[in-house]
Amino acid sequence: MASLGVNIDHIANVRQARMTVEPDPVQMAFLAELGGADSITVHLREDRRHIQDRDLKLLKATIHNKLNLEMAATQEMVDIALQILPDMVTLVPEKRKEITTEGGLDVIANESHLEEIIQQINSAGIPVSIFIDPVENQLKASKEVGATWIELHTGSYAEAPLKLQSIELAKLQEATFKARNLGLRVNAGHGLTYQNVELIAAIESIEELNIGHSIIARSIAVGLKEAVSEMKKLIRDPREEPLFD
Ligand code: PXP
Repeated sequence: MASLGVNIDHIANVRQARMTVEPDPVQMAFLAELGGADSITVHLREDRRHIQDRDLKLLKATIHNKLNLEMAATQEMVDIALQILPDMVTLVPEKRKEITTEGGLDVIANESHLEEIIQQINSAGIPVSIFIDPVENQLKASKEVGATWIELHTGSYAEAPLKLQSIELAKLQEATFKARNLGLRVNAGHGLTYQNVELIAAIESIEELNIGHSIIARSIAVGLKEAVSEMKKLIRDPREEPLFD
């Protein structure tokens, strides 16, 4: 059975929308772990649009399971990773204007740079995963540059119209098989939802699924009724019985 990595970036997105202190992704990580998250994933972006350096430090100090740091392959980020020492680093492409990570990293085009970066991270005992599209050449290049893991981009599967979904699923199955034959360990993620996750979870050899948007969206739905009802109680008629003794 694949384990579940919960990406909590969106919690920080809500906080940063008001530049305030709530909701705090560090507190929410604790709840995600209570719900069964096997690891917590955060993407420290160069523009710090959601997760902040402070979040990363506190997460490292407080989470019980694994911390997976998603980051661009830059020296600034490597230095931060070497200071924080997460349990895993996942290298992702990063563009300032994108809403979320758009495609996999082009490992072939950046081989020597990535090899250098991965060596530095590995020398601190941190395994590196590379987020790639399910394409054979990228798998081979990932192995060559020294990655231990790859994270297969499931976005094309998630976005495919129903009649084309099986083609995208087959690409992911084949890529998983080939990666394992190359000696790579395999995670997967992006765009996975309560509706489409099961076929991906059924792919043998995928060890962890990283899921963010759908889980955070659902948490708003399942938690909103309680949040409104608590507020309603607080603004009730003061002549009524006190809420708390
Ligand atoms: N994996 C990687 C490498 C990502 O960049 C993201 C998005 O931040 C995810 C998984 C999670 O994607 P989603 O939010 O669509 O579940």
